[in-house]
Amino acid sequence: MGKLDGKVALITGAAGGIGKATSKLFLEEGAKGVVMADIWDEMGEKTAKELGPNAKYIHTDVSQETDIKKAIDFAVDEFGQLDIIFSNAGNPGPVGVIEDIPTDEFDLTVAIHLRAAFLCMKHSIPIMKKQGSGCFITTSSVAGFQQGLGTLPYSLSKAGIIQLTRIAAVELGAYGIRANAIAPGGISTGIFGQGFGLSPEVAVKFGKMIKDILAIYQPIPRAGLPEDIAHAALFLAEDSSSFITGETLKVDGGLLSGRIPQDPEELMEKYFNIIAQLDPEDQKIVIAKIGEGAQKATKDMKYLKPIAREQMLKRMQKLMKVQQKLMKESAKK
Ligand SMILES: NC(=O)c1ccc[n+]([C@@H]2O[C@H](COP(=O)([O-])OP(=O)(O)OC[C@H]3O[C@@H](n4cnc5c(N)ncnc54)[C@H](O)[C@@H]3O)[C@@H](O)[C@H]2O)c1
Repeated sequence: MGKLDGKVALITGAAGGIGKATSKLFLEEGAKGVVMADIWDEMGEKTAKELGPNAKYIHTDVSQETDIKKAIDFAVDEFGQLDIIFSNAGNPGPVGVIEDIPTDEFDLTVAIHLRAAFLCMKHSIPIMKKQGSGCFITTSSVAGFQQGLGTLPYSLSKAGIIQLTRIAAVELGAYGIRANAIAPGGISTGIFGQGFGLSPEVAVKFGKMIKDILAIYQPIPRAGLPEDIAHAALFLAEDSSSFITGETLKVDGGLLSGRIPQDPEELMEKYFNIIAQLDPEDQKIVIAKIGEGAQKATKDMKYLKPIAREQMLKRMQKLMKVQQKLMKESAKK
């Protein structure tokens, strides 16, 4: 007997790492239907086909309310009910400090993470109320708890999801509907490569290449895997967690209990060694993105208080040396 026998789930971001692993696990656990929603159509369609007739793909841009509504209606039309929504689609969001973030990119990132989670609830609550049961799971992040673990609009959205989860839990408990969130730590997926501007296909490859880097930040010394989050989602979706609501479950290898300090030079060296393994065109994309970030970071250096300026200059000079050395080596290859 599966843990999700007879249940129907809608999963957004289902073509990518966490969503894809969760779709697979939910079906293995007996789900009668999994609707896989994403904008990466090629991968979403291919994966749904591989997973069999109980998996259906639908193009869904979660920043669009009409797309979300369509995906919910599609799930009910195809499978006659909707028990679980795993609101999981995500982008890395724009890098930069408050004054540099483009407002349209801010809006888009909040729309993809926070507004989409709200809209998934808004448009499916009437269905779940009629059913007398339902379960929302939303992907938050360690970045929702602590500064410095994600871009600004990303972190804000992830923090908002934690509060949305509490509000939904209070509003919906009496109808038999639960709402929980998951806060992953560093999970080996394509999201990091996408942050560097790589195509989805190369980003997936890059996500696997940085596993060793993802392994060193947290007490449990390995990279998180999409399957780690899929199992957490399964636990929150199944009936054995029926007394849990309003919770954000950290699945971070202990990262938020205390980060393991890292030498920034060594870290940079590790990153550049990985970048050097990419195709030359992809290397250029990543280097340009890093350069853009460094330029932004140095823009206001002259206004820093002297002690902070000195520290920053020293660090940047060391990092530049590492970068130049590694780039020279990679050009020789
Ligand atoms: N990987 C990590 O370390 C990590 C850590 C914390 C939280 N998360 C969160 O986990 C979730 C899943 O990310 P992942 O790590 O599997 O990355 P991923 O890039 O592999 O998957 C994200 C998926 O979302 C899809 N997507 C992006 N924009 C979309 C849109 N507008 N509409 C519909 N789909 C869209 C992408 O096509 C992709 O398939 C995200 O919400 C992310 O913020 C990831």
